[in-house]
Amino acid sequence: MSSSFQAPKGVSEYVPPRAELLYAVRRAFAEQARLAGYGYLELAVFEDTQLFKRGVGESTDVVSKEMYTFSDRGGRSLTLRPEFTAGVLRAVLEHGLHKQGLPVKVWTTGPAFRAERPQQGRYRQFYQLDLEAIGSEDPQIDAETIALAWNWYRGLGLTRVRLLLNSLGCRECRPAYRARLQEFLRGLDLDEDTRERVEINPLRVLDDKRPEVRAQVADAPLMADHLCASCKAHHDRVRGLLADLSIAWEDEPRLVRGLDYYTRTTYEFDHPLLGAQSGIGGGGRYDGLSEDIGGPPLPGIGFGLGLDRTLLALEKEGVAFGTPSRCQVFGVPLGEVAERRIFALVAELRAAGIAADMSYGGKSLKGAMKAADRSGAAYAVILGERDIAAGSAQVKDLAEGGQSAVPLTDITATLKERLVR
Ligand code: HAM
Repeated sequence: MSSSFQAPKGVSEYVPPRAELLYAVRRAFAEQARLAGYGYLELAVFEDTQLFKRGVGESTDVVSKEMYTFSDRGGRSLTLRPEFTAGVLRAVLEHGLHKQGLPVKVWTTGPAFRAERPQQGRYRQFYQLDLEAIGSEDPQIDAETIALAWNWYRGLGLTRVRLLLNSLGCRECRPAYRARLQEFLRGLDLDEDTRERVEINPLRVLDDKRPEVRAQVADAPLMADHLCASCKAHHDRVRGLLADLSIAWEDEPRLVRGLDYYTRTTYEFDHPLLGAQSGIGGGGRYDGLSEDIGGPPLPGIGFGLGLDRTLLALEKEGVAFGTPSRCQVFGVPLGEVAERRIFALVAELRAAGIAADMSYGGKSLKGAMKAADRSGAAYAVILGERDIAAGSAQVKDLAEGGQSAVPLTDITATLKERLVR
């Protein structure tokens, strides 16, 4: 029987063994980030609501429809983070990391919150890996961050991830393009909501998935054809660097992304087996975000990778990303004296780097062996009164069933040797 309570609707939760996969996947990312010189951050889960309004943009769905906003007891308006980038930049500026040399290279992970309609791969509490490089306009940083995510997916064993790439231009070239696009879109036969979007956020219309809209915008002017010389040079350089790294991307001139801060390089990682929620990660440049939130001019680039969807992708591709087994050796004591001896032995095994557990609560041999099987251990160490008198224990191979007596003083060394075989 469960309790009278359930987790709130749409919250993605993980319990073993899936939670261990999540942890292993994060650990693999931590290693990639460390190798590339990114430091770890642990940040506020809720922020001043204005940070997201000004940073992410009031016209976005994320800010206008999906934020969990509440007043605290002092009447301040706070919001559970719907994404990490605005908070990372806020923290970098607040802690003065940008004064200690640029670029500031950081990453973080944890839950983010969006009040979306839940379905497979789309949750109200979900998990991201977020990485940001702040303070450099160098296209090499763009390629470095993309390569890091790419190598992480590859390292997990995913082979079907697609990288979709675009440039959204800058504050020099985008306004003219935006006006041109608006002019084109105003001439189409669109519904009321979409017409409104044309006025507020016309680029988003290009990203509309409905066939009737898609057909109409097929001939729309594209940002790629209206980039200024420096945006074009930047984009060409990023593509050249990706080619040098043998990263296969697809140019996607209609890729827009749902957050307002993007400039220049923008991209998404897509997984073809995930159906409607196929975006497993995304990122790009945000060269004006620092100023938008009241900071100094500081260009930046980064990405957010969806952990929930990455796990689904691993499962869809049938990849067994290795999590070391939780328990390698399981202690089965029979009687109180044996219990104390096994308790000490389990501590000794753990100190020797062997994952060990034991049966608690004075279980019968049958009950304890059942627990041993359930633990997934390769070996059980069974200790009865007669064994203690003989100074040995029975070591049982749980997969093959064979059993032999091993002197108590040799158990750790013996198991260590057998486990590497
Ligand atoms: P985003 O595309 O909004 O970008 O989210 C990044 C990833 O988070 C998505 O590709 C998706 O895998 C996952 N995700 C988003 N919403 C949900 C949801 N409701 N349920 C499950 N997974 C979800 C950002 O958040 C930017 N801050 C990324 C970034 C960092 N850009 C620059 N730096």
